[in-house]
Amino acid sequence: MPYSGIAEVVVNKKVGPEHFLMRVLVPELTKEAKPGQFVHVRCHGEMDPLLRRPLSLHGIDYEHGTISLLYQVVGRGTRLLAEMPTGAEVDIMGPLGRGFTIPEKAQNVFVIGGGIGVAPLFPLVQALKHYKIEQTILLGARSADWVIGTGQLASLGVKVEAATDDGSLGYKGFVTDLVGKRIKVIKPDYFFACGPNPMLKALLEVTRKSGLDGQVSLEERMGCGVGACLACVCKTVASSELLVASGNGKTVDSGEWRVGSGTEKTVREFEYKKVCSDGPVFGAGEVIFDD
Ligand SMILES: Cc1cc2nc3c(=O)[nH]c(=O)nc-3n(C[C@H](O)[C@H](O)[C@H](O)COP(=O)(O)OP(=O)(O)OC[C@H]3O[C@@H](n4cnc5c(N)ncnc54)[C@H](O)[C@@H]3O)c2cc1C
Ligand code: FES
Repeated sequence: MPYSGIAEVVVNKKVGPEHFLMRVLVPELTKEAKPGQFVHVRCHGEMDPLLRRPLSLHGIDYEHGTISLLYQVVGRGTRLLAEMPTGAEVDIMGPLGRGFTIPEKAQNVFVIGGGIGVAPLFPLVQALKHYKIEQTILLGARSADWVIGTGQLASLGVKVEAATDDGSLGYKGFVTDLVGKRIKVIKPDYFFACGPNPMLKALLEVTRKSGLDGQVSLEERMGCGVGACLACVCKTVASSELLVASGNGKTVDSGEWRVGSGTEKTVREFEYKKVCSDGPVFGAGEVIFDD
Protein backbone atom coordinates (compact mmCIF):
# COMPACT_ATOMS: atom_id res chain seq x y z
CA MET A 1 0.00 0.00 0.00
CA PRO A 2 1.39 3.42 -0.89
CA TYR A 3 1.86 5.89 1.94
CA SER A 4 -0.67 8.70 2.14
CA GLY A 5 -0.12 11.43 4.69
CA ILE A 6 1.99 14.36 5.73
CA ALA A 7 5.65 14.99 4.93
CA GLU A 8 7.81 17.79 6.31
CA VAL A 9 9.51 20.14 3.85
CA VAL A 10 13.24 20.11 4.66
CA VAL A 11 14.42 22.18 1.69
CA ASN A 12 12.58 24.06 -1.07
CA LYS A 13 14.92 26.18 -3.17
CA LYS A 14 15.13 27.68 -6.64
CA VAL A 15 17.60 25.82 -8.87
CA GLY A 16 16.77 27.11 -12.35
CA PRO A 17 14.82 29.79 -14.24
CA GLU A 18 11.50 28.26 -13.16
CA HIS A 19 12.78 25.18 -11.38
CA PHE A 20 12.66 24.23 -7.71
CA LEU A 21 14.13 21.40 -5.71
CA MET A 22 12.09 20.25 -2.72
CA ARG A 23 13.32 17.70 -0.23
CA VAL A 24 10.76 16.22 2.17
CA LEU A 25 11.12 13.95 5.17
CA VAL A 26 8.85 10.95 4.71
CA PRO A 27 10.57 7.69 5.80
CA GLU A 28 7.40 5.58 5.39
CA LEU A 29 7.31 6.38 1.67
CA THR A 30 11.05 6.35 1.05
CA LYS A 31 11.64 2.74 2.05
CA GLU A 32 9.40 1.44 -0.78
CA ALA A 33 10.49 3.97 -3.44
CA LYS A 34 12.10 2.92 -6.74
CA PRO A 35 13.56 4.91 -9.67
CA GLY A 36 10.89 6.00 -12.14
CA GLN A 37 8.02 6.03 -9.63
CA PHE A 38 6.21 9.21 -8.66
CA VAL A 39 4.33 10.85 -5.81
CA HIS A 40 0.96 12.58 -5.94
CA VAL A 41 1.15 15.87 -4.09
CA ARG A 42 -1.56 18.14 -2.75
CA CYS A 43 -0.12 21.55 -3.46
CA HIS A 44 -2.28 23.39 -0.92
CA GLY A 45 -3.88 22.73 2.44
CA GLU A 46 -7.25 23.96 1.19
CA MET A 47 -9.58 22.95 -1.66
CA ASP A 48 -8.00 24.75 -4.62
CA PRO A 49 -6.46 23.20 -6.63
CA LEU A 50 -8.51 20.16 -5.73
CA LEU A 51 -6.49 17.58 -7.61
CA ARG A 52 -3.09 16.38 -6.56
CA ARG A 53 -0.15 16.91 -8.93
CA PRO A 54 2.13 14.04 -9.99
CA LEU A 55 5.87 14.60 -9.49
CA SER A 56 8.65 12.10 -10.11
CA LEU A 57 11.02 10.84 -7.48
CA HIS A 58 14.11 12.83 -8.29
CA GLY A 59 16.14 11.73 -5.29
CA ILE A 60 15.65 8.87 -2.85
CA ASP A 61 17.70 8.95 0.36
CA TYR A 62 16.93 5.60 1.99
CA GLU A 63 19.29 6.32 4.89
CA HIS A 64 17.75 9.63 5.97
CA GLY A 65 14.16 8.87 4.89
CA THR A 66 13.87 11.79 2.47
CA ILE A 67 12.82 12.13 -1.15
CA SER A 68 13.61 15.01 -3.51
CA LEU A 69 11.31 16.49 -6.11
CA LEU A 70 12.61 18.60 -8.99
CA TYR A 71 9.77 20.61 -10.46
CA GLN A 72 9.12 23.36 -12.93
CA VAL A 73 6.54 26.02 -12.12
CA VAL A 74 3.97 25.85 -14.92
CA GLY A 75 0.64 26.64 -13.23
CA ARG A 76 -1.23 27.17 -9.99
CA GLY A 77 -0.30 23.89 -8.29
CA THR A 78 3.44 24.10 -8.83
CA ARG A 79 3.41 27.84 -8.00
CA LEU A 80 1.83 27.08 -4.62
CA LEU A 81 4.38 24.33 -4.06
CA ALA A 82 7.22 26.77 -4.76
CA GLU A 83 5.91 29.04 -1.98
CA MET A 84 6.15 26.37 0.73
CA PRO A 85 8.77 27.27 3.35
CA THR A 86 11.08 24.92 5.21
CA GLY A 87 9.15 23.23 7.99
CA ALA A 88 5.82 23.32 6.10
CA GLU A 89 3.75 20.17 5.90
CA VAL A 90 2.83 18.77 2.51
CA ASP A 91 0.20 16.10 1.88
CA ILE A 92 1.80 13.41 -0.23
CA MET A 93 0.84 9.99 -1.58
CA GLY A 94 3.22 7.39 -2.97
CA PRO A 95 5.35 5.83 -4.20
CA LEU A 96 3.04 5.27 -7.18
CA GLY A 97 3.27 3.62 -10.59
CA ARG A 98 5.74 1.27 -12.20
CA GLY A 99 9.27 2.55 -12.42
CA PHE A 100 12.25 1.67 -14.62
CA THR A 101 13.53 -1.89 -14.81
CA ILE A 102 17.10 -2.55 -15.81
CA PRO A 103 17.30 -5.48 -18.24
CA GLU A 104 20.12 -7.93 -17.67
CA LYS A 105 21.35 -7.51 -21.26
CA ALA A 106 21.95 -3.75 -20.83
CA GLN A 107 25.66 -2.98 -20.70
CA ASN A 108 25.97 0.37 -22.44
CA VAL A 109 22.91 2.62 -22.26
CA PHE A 110 21.65 6.05 -23.24
CA VAL A 111 19.69 7.99 -20.59
CA ILE A 112 17.77 10.75 -22.37
CA GLY A 113 15.91 13.67 -20.81
CA GLY A 114 13.93 16.49 -22.41
CA GLY A 115 13.22 19.58 -20.29
CA ILE A 116 11.91 18.71 -16.84
CA GLY A 117 11.94 15.07 -18.02
CA VAL A 118 15.38 15.00 -16.41
CA ALA A 119 13.68 14.76 -12.98
CA PRO A 120 13.15 10.96 -12.73
CA LEU A 121 16.48 10.11 -14.34
CA PHE A 122 18.74 10.79 -11.35
CA PRO A 123 17.83 7.73 -9.23
CA LEU A 124 18.02 5.65 -12.42
CA VAL A 125 21.52 6.95 -13.18
CA GLN A 126 22.57 6.05 -9.62
CA ALA A 127 21.13 2.54 -10.00
CA LEU A 128 22.90 2.06 -13.36
CA LYS A 129 26.13 3.20 -11.75
CA HIS A 130 25.59 0.76 -8.89
CA TYR A 131 25.30 -2.09 -11.43
CA LYS A 132 28.41 -0.77 -13.26
CA ILE A 133 26.51 -0.24 -16.51
CA GLU A 134 28.18 2.12 -19.00
CA GLN A 135 25.93 5.14 -19.56
CA THR A 136 25.77 8.35 -21.54
CA ILE A 137 23.30 11.00 -20.42
CA LEU A 138 21.82 13.20 -23.16
CA LEU A 139 19.80 16.20 -22.03
CA GLY A 140 17.81 18.60 -24.18
CA ALA A 141 16.44 22.03 -23.31
CA ARG A 142 15.72 25.38 -24.93
CA SER A 143 18.98 27.06 -23.74
CA ALA A 144 21.92 26.58 -21.35
CA ASP A 145 20.18 27.82 -18.20
CA TRP A 146 17.26 25.45 -18.83
CA VAL A 147 19.53 22.40 -18.76
CA ILE A 148 19.14 21.36 -15.13
CA GLY A 149 21.36 19.00 -13.17
CA THR A 150 24.43 18.61 -15.38
CA GLY A 151 26.73 19.45 -12.42
CA GLN A 152 25.00 16.95 -10.15
CA LEU A 153 25.21 14.25 -12.85
CA ALA A 154 28.83 15.01 -13.65
CA SER A 155 29.64 14.66 -9.92
CA LEU A 156 28.43 11.05 -10.21
CA GLY A 157 31.20 10.53 -12.75
CA VAL A 158 28.90 9.88 -15.73
CA LYS A 159 29.23 11.31 -19.26
CA VAL A 160 26.74 14.12 -19.88
CA GLU A 161 26.00 15.68 -23.29
CA ALA A 162 23.59 18.56 -23.82
CA ALA A 163 21.56 19.78 -26.77
CA THR A 164 20.00 23.24 -26.74
CA ASP A 165 17.63 24.81 -29.25
CA ASP A 166 19.77 27.98 -29.45
CA GLY A 167 23.18 26.25 -29.24
CA SER A 168 24.12 28.06 -26.00
CA LEU A 169 25.26 24.71 -24.55
CA GLY A 170 26.43 21.61 -26.38
CA TYR A 171 24.84 20.50 -29.64
CA LYS A 172 22.64 23.09 -31.40
CA GLY A 173 19.31 21.42 -32.09
CA PHE A 174 16.97 18.84 -30.62
CA VAL A 175 18.25 16.18 -28.26
CA THR A 176 16.62 13.59 -30.54
CA ASP A 177 18.95 14.68 -33.37
CA LEU A 178 21.91 14.41 -31.01
CA VAL A 179 20.77 10.90 -30.05
CA GLY A 180 20.62 9.96 -33.76
CA LYS A 181 24.22 11.09 -34.24
CA ARG A 182 25.61 9.57 -31.04
CA ILE A 183 23.90 6.17 -31.56
CA LYS A 184 26.14 5.59 -34.56
CA VAL A 185 29.31 6.39 -32.59
CA ILE A 186 28.62 4.97 -29.13
CA LYS A 187 26.40 2.05 -30.25
CA PRO A 188 24.36 1.73 -27.04
CA ASP A 189 22.44 -1.50 -26.45
CA TYR A 190 19.48 0.05 -24.59
CA PHE A 191 17.94 3.41 -23.67
CA PHE A 192 15.80 5.07 -21.01
CA ALA A 193 14.00 8.37 -21.67
CA CYS A 194 11.62 10.89 -20.17
CA GLY A 195 10.28 14.08 -21.70
CA PRO A 196 7.27 15.65 -23.37
CA ASN A 197 5.31 13.47 -25.80
CA PRO A 198 6.48 15.23 -29.02
CA MET A 199 10.08 14.60 -27.97
CA LEU A 200 9.41 10.95 -27.12
CA LYS A 201 7.59 10.47 -30.41
CA ALA A 202 10.58 11.85 -32.35
CA LEU A 203 12.94 9.79 -30.21
CA LEU A 204 11.10 6.54 -30.96
CA GLU A 205 11.41 7.26 -34.68
CA VAL A 206 15.20 7.54 -34.22
CA THR A 207 15.63 4.53 -31.94
CA ARG A 208 13.30 2.28 -33.98
CA LYS A 209 15.31 3.05 -37.11
CA SER A 210 18.43 1.91 -35.27
CA GLY A 211 16.71 -1.14 -33.77
CA LEU A 212 17.44 0.19 -30.28
CA ASP A 213 15.09 -0.99 -27.54
CA GLY A 214 14.36 0.88 -24.34
CA GLN A 215 11.86 2.34 -21.90
CA VAL A 216 10.06 5.68 -21.88
CA SER A 217 8.45 7.49 -18.97
CA LEU A 218 5.28 9.35 -20.02
CA GLU A 219 3.90 12.63 -18.71
CA GLU A 220 0.08 12.77 -18.76
CA ARG A 221 -2.38 14.89 -16.83
CA MET A 222 -3.70 12.88 -13.90
CA GLY A 223 -6.71 12.69 -11.63
CA CYS A 224 -6.67 10.00 -8.96
CA GLY A 225 -3.13 8.72 -9.61
CA VAL A 226 -4.07 5.18 -8.60
CA GLY A 227 -5.86 3.68 -11.61
CA ALA A 228 -9.47 4.54 -10.70
CA CYS A 229 -10.55 7.50 -12.88
CA LEU A 230 -9.09 6.84 -16.40
CA ALA A 231 -7.91 10.48 -16.69
CA CYS A 232 -4.42 9.44 -17.71
CA VAL A 233 -4.86 6.81 -20.42
CA CYS A 234 -2.37 6.41 -23.25
CA LYS A 235 -2.54 4.29 -26.38
CA THR A 236 -0.39 1.15 -26.48
CA VAL A 237 0.08 -1.80 -28.80
CA ALA A 238 -2.50 -4.40 -27.75
CA SER A 239 -1.12 -7.20 -25.64
CA SER A 240 -2.67 -9.53 -28.26
CA GLU A 241 -0.21 -8.09 -30.81
CA LEU A 242 2.66 -8.62 -28.41
CA LEU A 243 1.40 -12.17 -27.82
CA VAL A 244 1.08 -12.83 -31.56
CA ALA A 245 4.62 -11.57 -32.03
CA SER A 246 5.79 -14.07 -29.44
CA GLY A 247 3.62 -16.87 -30.94
CA ASN A 248 1.17 -17.09 -28.04
CA GLY A 249 -2.06 -16.33 -29.92
CA LYS A 250 -4.67 -13.60 -29.67
CA THR A 251 -6.49 -12.70 -26.47
CA VAL A 252 -7.43 -9.00 -26.46
CA ASP A 253 -9.59 -7.02 -28.87
CA SER A 254 -10.04 -3.35 -28.07
CA GLY A 255 -9.49 -1.23 -31.17
CA GLU A 256 -7.63 -0.65 -34.41
CA TRP A 257 -4.51 1.33 -35.07
CA ARG A 258 -3.47 2.14 -38.66
CA VAL A 259 0.15 2.55 -39.60
CA GLY A 260 1.69 3.44 -42.95
CA SER A 261 0.18 5.68 -45.62
CA GLY A 262 -2.09 5.51 -48.69
CA THR A 263 -3.00 1.99 -49.71
CA GLU A 264 -0.22 0.47 -47.62
CA LYS A 265 -2.02 0.94 -44.31
CA THR A 266 -1.76 -1.99 -41.93
CA VAL A 267 -4.39 -2.48 -39.26
CA ARG A 268 -2.93 -3.16 -35.84
CA GLU A 269 -4.73 -3.58 -32.56
CA PHE A 270 -4.32 -1.17 -29.71
CA GLU A 271 -5.49 -0.83 -26.16
CA TYR A 272 -5.51 1.96 -23.61
CA LYS A 273 -3.34 1.75 -20.54
CA LYS A 274 -3.24 3.95 -17.47
CA VAL A 275 -0.09 6.01 -17.15
CA CYS A 276 -0.51 6.21 -13.35
CA SER A 277 -0.74 2.50 -12.60
CA ASP A 278 0.43 0.62 -15.75
CA GLY A 279 3.22 3.22 -16.15
CA PRO A 280 4.51 5.90 -16.12
CA VAL A 281 7.33 3.78 -17.55
CA PHE A 282 6.48 1.72 -20.65
CA GLY A 283 8.49 -0.38 -23.05
CA ALA A 284 9.49 1.64 -26.12
CA GLY A 285 7.77 -0.97 -28.32
CA GLU A 286 4.48 -0.59 -26.48
CA VAL A 287 3.66 3.10 -26.83
CA ILE A 288 1.69 4.58 -29.75
CA PHE A 289 1.85 8.32 -30.33
CA ASP A 290 -0.94 9.44 -32.68
CA ASP A 291 -0.22 12.10 -35.29
C1 LIG B 1 4.19 10.62 -13.80
C2 LIG B 1 4.47 12.11 -13.90
C3 LIG B 1 5.61 12.62 -13.32
C4 LIG B 1 5.87 13.99 -13.41
N1 LIG B 1 7.02 14.45 -12.84
C5 LIG B 1 7.28 15.76 -12.86
C6 LIG B 1 8.45 16.26 -12.23
O1 LIG B 1 9.23 15.51 -11.63
N2 LIG B 1 8.67 17.59 -12.28
C7 LIG B 1 7.79 18.46 -12.92
O2 LIG B 1 8.05 19.66 -12.94
N3 LIG B 1 6.68 18.01 -13.53
C8 LIG B 1 6.40 16.69 -13.51
N4 LIG B 1 5.25 16.23 -14.11
C9 LIG B 1 4.31 17.22 -14.69
C10 LIG B 1 3.55 17.89 -13.53
O3 LIG B 1 2.70 16.95 -12.93
C11 LIG B 1 2.74 19.06 -14.05
O4 LIG B 1 3.59 20.06 -14.55
C12 LIG B 1 1.89 19.65 -12.92
O5 LIG B 1 0.86 18.74 -12.57
C13 LIG B 1 1.29 20.97 -13.34
O6 LIG B 1 0.46 21.43 -12.30
P1 LIG B 1 0.11 22.97 -12.18
O7 LIG B 1 -1.07 23.09 -11.29
O8 LIG B 1 1.32 23.77 -11.80
O9 LIG B 1 -0.23 23.40 -13.65
P2 LIG B 1 -1.66 23.38 -14.37
O10 LIG B 1 -2.31 24.69 -14.10
O11 LIG B 1 -2.39 22.12 -14.02
O12 LIG B 1 -1.17 23.30 -15.88
C14 LIG B 1 -0.30 24.28 -16.42
C15 LIG B 1 0.13 23.85 -17.82
O13 LIG B 1 0.90 22.62 -17.78
C16 LIG B 1 0.26 21.60 -18.57
N5 LIG B 1 0.34 20.34 -17.82
C17 LIG B 1 -0.13 20.11 -16.59
N6 LIG B 1 0.10 18.85 -16.21
C18 LIG B 1 0.74 18.24 -17.24
C19 LIG B 1 1.22 16.93 -17.47
N7 LIG B 1 1.11 15.96 -16.56
N8 LIG B 1 1.81 16.68 -18.64
C20 LIG B 1 1.92 17.64 -19.57
N9 LIG B 1 1.48 18.90 -19.43
C21 LIG B 1 0.88 19.21 -18.27
C22 LIG B 1 -1.17 22.05 -18.70
O14 LIG B 1 -1.76 21.54 -19.88
C23 LIG B 1 -1.04 23.55 -18.75
O15 LIG B 1 -0.69 23.99 -20.04
C24 LIG B 1 4.97 14.88 -14.07
C25 LIG B 1 3.81 14.35 -14.64
C26 LIG B 1 3.57 12.98 -14.58
C27 LIG B 1 2.34 12.43 -15.19
S1 FES C 1 -5.05 9.25 -12.92
FE1 FES C 1 -6.87 8.18 -12.43
S2 FES C 1 -6.64 6.35 -13.60
FE2 FES C 1 -4.72 7.35 -13.83
